[in-house]
Amino acid sequence: MIKTLFNIFLVLASSMALSQCSATAASNCQSTPSATGLTTSSATSISHRPGEACLGCHGGSVSTVFTSAGTLYVGANSTTTATTGTVTVDTQSLTVDTCGNFYTTKNIAFPASTSTAAKAMSNPASSGDCNASGCHDSNRRVY
Ligand code: HEC
Repeated sequence: MIKTLFNIFLVLASSMALSQCSATAASNCQSTPSATGLTTSSATSISHRPGEACLGCHGGSVSTVFTSAGTLYVGANSTTTATTGTVTVDTQSLTVDTCGNFYTTKNIAFPASTSTAAKAMSNPASSGDCNASGCHDSNRRVY
């Protein structure tokens, strides 16, 4: 029963996320970041929506366009985001922010080699939307 309710919640939450791409995003981490010219994540920067497919919105439908973005977790199947760490995408070394997210607007040549302290992808990543469904979704997080 609880699981069913949770699944309904997930479906609702994801359809809301999709419908909000052009509007001000709701926050499930920090308050909605306003566009202040953040280009690359740092240990003190603020973002939102950990675990969601960032480029679904930040691929062109909102003002800040990232070349790569995602969320670092403490394990592949964990729901706990990392509080520190670095994700390397191509030549960019991205420090996770207060939300466990990493992101950049800098140029990245895809396919790009990617790695964390724990792991390196065996094949170069074809896209920068790390949390995209079928990539590092809840079945296999970046850790
Ligand atoms: C449902 C749409 C949506 C999703 C998904 C989303 N964002 Fe955002 N984000 C926004 C909107 C709207 C803003 C407000 C500023 C803008 O328009 O760029 C914003 C702002 C930001 C900012 C501040 C930008 C600046 O210029 O200061 C950061 C950083 C950010 N998002 C990171 C992320 C990360 C990382 C993810 C994925 C984990 C993500 N967002 C997922 C819609 C989204």
